[in-house]
Amino acid sequence: MSALSANHPLLDGRTSDAPLIRAYRGERQPSPPVWFMRQAGRSLPEYRELREGVAMLDSCLDPEMASEITLQPVRRHGVDAAIFFSDIVIPLKLSGVAVDIVPGRGPVLESPVRDAADVRALRSHTLEPDALAPVEAGVRRTVEQLGTTPLIGFAGAPFTLAAYLVEGGPSKDHLRARAMMRADPESWRALMEWTADVTGAFLRAQLQAGASAAQLFDSWAGSLSPHDYEESVLWASRRALDHVRDLEVPLVHFGVGTGEILPAMLSAGVDAVGVDWRTPLDEASRRLGGSTTVQGNLDPAILSAPWPIVESAVLDVVDRGRAAPAHVFNLGHGVPADADPSVLTRIVELLHSGAARS
Ligand code: CP3
Repeated sequence: MSALSANHPLLDGRTSDAPLIRAYRGERQPSPPVWFMRQAGRSLPEYRELREGVAMLDSCLDPEMASEITLQPVRRHGVDAAIFFSDIVIPLKLSGVAVDIVPGRGPVLESPVRDAADVRALRSHTLEPDALAPVEAGVRRTVEQLGTTPLIGFAGAPFTLAAYLVEGGPSKDHLRARAMMRADPESWRALMEWTADVTGAFLRAQLQAGASAAQLFDSWAGSLSPHDYEESVLWASRRALDHVRDLEVPLVHFGVGTGEILPAMLSAGVDAVGVDWRTPLDEASRRLGGSTTVQGNLDPAILSAPWPIVESAVLDVVDRGRAAPAHVFNLGHGVPADADPSVLTRIVELLHSGAARS
């Protein structure tokens, strides 16, 4: 018996047969189901209008606004899944950590976590179950309106969150985070443990409120060597996912620049692995052992090319995706803010037309 309530969309039949859910469970679909990372956001004029004058994290915690933004790309593009509009730093904020999102830059921490005392101070913050109420309300509202289209819940993986916590903001190489990992393994472990538990709770709240699948974003794991990933990071991603395993929803693990650690990411215990644009899907599937659903991986840079170039790149991704048991089409990372949304709609139409049989 799953720990989901009986009226959850996966249990009452609304989404259990959706192409996305079937593909995540390893069942090849006539053509690959499609959604786009960052499908909600600045590429959409209706998003920019709604967000006008509202801070990013405030919009995430307004259930009505978060729900409306989540639905916008589903209405516009006809994608096969919604992804809940929120952010990976929301569980930090809800734990009382002073964090903000600076437009054009990303998450910025008031007090970076640099040493053992900082980690102890961080661990004194707790994520009270009540604090997640706005997230749950946003998900419930969204799922009511989605009908048979599944909602994907998500969370940041502990390493990606720790990278922001230690650096204090976005960084190219995450040098300070990797330095703490090597120089002070005890503090690193304590930091990763706390982070795994708050991000796991955030993910669980979305799933229990009605999301039908979950994606763990380890966006910056590509800056780690396979050895460091396996020794110092993988256990914490497993721990975050342990918060939701009993719910038996499909789990997806994604990162950028992770070609060398795809098998390790699979070993975190997931149903599908998201692949960035650097590793062709046939090669990714080979590295994953050939029995796992792959998700990806059109290069976001191609979106600005003339349509015939986009079309042949989409068909090439679908062709390579045939090497895996099942494929969910996506970009290799998020939709760029300046992407032309009509190109995304056209990609969905192409995939749904059956021209790209998977
Ligand atoms: O449509 C969706 O994909 C759902 C919403 C979503 C957002 N953030 C909304 C958002 C998701 C899944 C995320 C996850 C997220 N947030 C990740 C992992 C995914 C990835 O892109 O690798 C990361 C690393 C973050 C941290 C973060 N938040 C960054 C780097 C930024 C961009 C800063 C900027 O302005 O360029 C944000 C802000 C953010 N999160 C925006 C959106 C729509 C832009 C906010 C705006 O409109 O100003």
